[in-house]
Amino acid sequence: MAKARAALRNAEQLVVHHDYTKEDEAEETLDESGDPLEESGRTIDSSDEEIEESVAEDIARFEESFVGITKRYRLINRIGEGTFSTVYKAEDLEYNNYNNRWDTDERENRKWTSPGHRKRSVKRPHYVAIKKIYVTSSPMRIYNELELLYDLKNSDSVCPLITAFRHLDQVVAVLPYFQHRDFRDYYRDMKVPEMRLYFRSLFTALRSVHSKKILHRDIKPTNFLYNPEQARGVLVDFGLAEREGTDWHQCACTLSSEERRYRISHSIHAQTQQSGHQPACYPKNDTRSSRRANRAGTRGFRAPEVLLKCTQQNTSIDMWSAGVILLTILSRRFPFFHSADDIDALLEITTIFGRKKMKEISLLHGQVFETNIPSYSDNGHSLEKIILWCTGRTKTETGIKPELEEDEKEAVQFLYRLMECDPDKRITAEEALRHPFITRAFEDDEADDDMLDLVRG
Ligand SMILES: Nc1ncnc2c1ncn2[C@@H]1O[C@H](COP(=O)(O)OP(=O)(O)OP(=O)(O)O)[C@@H](O)[C@H]1O
Ligand SMILES: [Mg+2]
Repeated sequence: MAKARAALRNAEQLVVHHDYTKEDEAEETLDESGDPLEESGRTIDSSDEEIEESVAEDIARFEESFVGITKRYRLINRIGEGTFSTVYKAEDLEYNNYNNRWDTDERENRKWTSPGHRKRSVKRPHYVAIKKIYVTSSPMRIYNELELLYDLKNSDSVCPLITAFRHLDQVVAVLPYFQHRDFRDYYRDMKVPEMRLYFRSLFTALRSVHSKKILHRDIKPTNFLYNPEQARGVLVDFGLAEREGTDWHQCACTLSSEERRYRISHSIHAQTQQSGHQPACYPKNDTRSSRRANRAGTRGFRAPEVLLKCTQQNTSIDMWSAGVILLTILSRRFPFFHSADDIDALLEITTIFGRKKMKEISLLHGQVFETNIPSYSDNGHSLEKIILWCTGRTKTETGIKPELEEDEKEAVQFLYRLMECDPDKRITAEEALRHPFITRAFEDDEADDDMLDLVRG
């Protein structure tokens, strides 16, 4: 904590509040889960249209309490209300007084406009998203989010941080406003070629983030702002992100398989089994210390190793969450997983992958998986079958076994690489961008260009 305090004092760009009264209770709370249904229901991407009275009152309160904000920004609407912040759309009133290197759209615009027209278009409004971080967030957490965003400022498909301000105990982050559509408005209609584009953009972002050895930890549709018309998205919300290696303690998953096998055979669990107890027996006086691991993230998107409290989680946890998004789109079910807690979440995954796999994967992290629920099969169900069930393709009148379309089958093969239970075998963002499922998006682009050339003659 002292380190964070010193870093906060030294931060050149930011003046951040130094009152630490609430931080510790926030730090203790490692489970940051939000209900996936709830969190997905509060995103509004509106423009200057009429706003509700309660929103207008909220904006007025914010403008009044955050002295000076109105000089630089004209607040327009509330566009997001998350667990940790409220996000407003605002017009940047002093845009022309600053260097706006972050504004790639403007650069593109200028490239294509004549100098005369450029002069006239200077008055065009420029929008930003102002993220008002709740004052109950620990300073350490606020600092972490801003510091990581600063580090990622030139990363592809990551929403850059323009600046940040503090007034008393309130910190705001200013980001470029990114026009996007609510995931719930388009995921049901997405065709496979559109999925390729969506994931090409998402993995471009994850490749940049992971190349800096940063885990996002909260990959989900509301944190990836996607514009289907432009086939472009940006990753936001680094509130739970962390550098790989933070707080690592050795986990069995990093041992050699011989070492792991040795440890398993000499474990307390193995001893209770040898003494003839049923597997569901537990030692009366358990001397093992309880296991703590970062489980931050959103329920339903957590990788199995997060649920199993792996103490050496790495960037591959984000790839699993991206897999859950692909499963959501292919199955047309959002949220796909809807568990009450981590145990429930593990059981949901067991339904798909079966007991055998879950036992195997648990041992990998030094955990024992037992369930007495008889309906779980040993081998689970194939993802193909689950997608067919979810999309109502179970029976045909002719009695022919329903099958996925060819391109859906290809998507499922890719999905297996993302929802790989062993993090070591899971595809990386870099590899995903080279996978045929994604590279075909480039072929589609070229085909479109050829078609355009043909039309133009
Ligand atoms: N740069 C932006 N441009 C447009 N909209 C944005 C931008 N940043 C955030 N938003 C909107 O605000 C919402 C909440 O932002 P963000 O995820 O950063 O906050 P949060 O409080 O951490 O949210 P949650 O707890 O729901 O994950 C986003 O889902 C998005 O709809
Ligand atoms: Mg968010």
